[in-house]
Amino acid sequence: MSEKSLKNNAIKKYYNKYANHYDLERKTIHFLKLNKIQLEFLKANIPENSKVLEVGSGTGQFLKSFPKGIGIDFSKEMVNIAKNKGLQASIGNATDIKFKDNYFDYTYSFKVFAHVPNCEKMLSEMIRVSKKGIVFDFYNIFSLKAIKDNIREIKTNYIRHDNFNSIKILLKDLNITIKEKKEHKGYFMIYGVKNE
Ligand SMILES: C[S@@+](CC[C@H](N)C(=O)[O-])C[C@H]1O[C@@H](n2cnc3c(N)ncnc32)[C@H](O)[C@@H]1O
Repeated sequence: MSEKSLKNNAIKKYYNKYANHYDLERKTIHFLKLNKIQLEFLKANIPENSKVLEVGSGTGQFLKSFPKGIGIDFSKEMVNIAKNKGLQASIGNATDIKFKDNYFDYTYSFKVFAHVPNCEKMLSEMIRVSKKGIVFDFYNIFSLKAIKDNIREIKTNYIRHDNFNSIKILLKDLNITIKEKKEHKGYFMIYGVKNE
C-alpha cells in the first residue's frame, strides 16, 4: 500500500473512532470561537440559498447552515452522525468527488485540507464541481498552531501546514482568483472564484 493510502486509512480510522465524541469535544471555547468565525466567513462569501457541497462535512456543524447543502466525508461514522441530524451527507472522498462538473454553485471545506496527502487533487476536484468558487482553510506553517502541532507530533491523524505563497501559486495554476482571506489562530481561510 502507498504512503498516501496508509495515511488516508489512519485518518479514516481516527475519525470513525472519534465520531461519537466529536460534537462534545468541539464545545471548547477555542472551537466555538473558531467555528463562529468560519461560519461568518462562509456566510459572507456564499449566499445561504446556494447549491453547495461540503467536503469533509464531519458531523455537519457547518452543513446545517445551508438548506441546499450536501456533504461528503470518507468516515462512515461521521456521516452517520450528520445523517441522524437530518442532513444530506454521504460517504465520499475529497480527491475523487462523484459529482458532475459545475454541479454546485460553491464547494467549501474546513479543517480537512491539512489531512489530505494529495491536497492539489482535492482542490482541483472542488473547483471542477463548482460553478462559481470555493472556500477552504489550511493550517499556516508560520503560526503558533504549527509549533504546537509539531511539538505534539500528531502522527496518527496526519496534519500538514502550508505556506500562503505556495497556496497562492497553486490556486493561480488552478485558474482561481483569491477574493478574501482571513487568519484565526493558524487557521487560514480562503475564498476564491473561478476565472472566466
Ligand atoms: C476535523 S474534521 C472537520 C469536520 C467539519 N468540516 C468541521 O469543521 O467540523 C475532518 C473531517 O475530514 C474528513 N476527511 C479527512 N480526509 C478526508 C478525505 N480525503 N475525504 C473525505 N473526508 C475526509 C474526516 O473524516 C473528518 O470528518
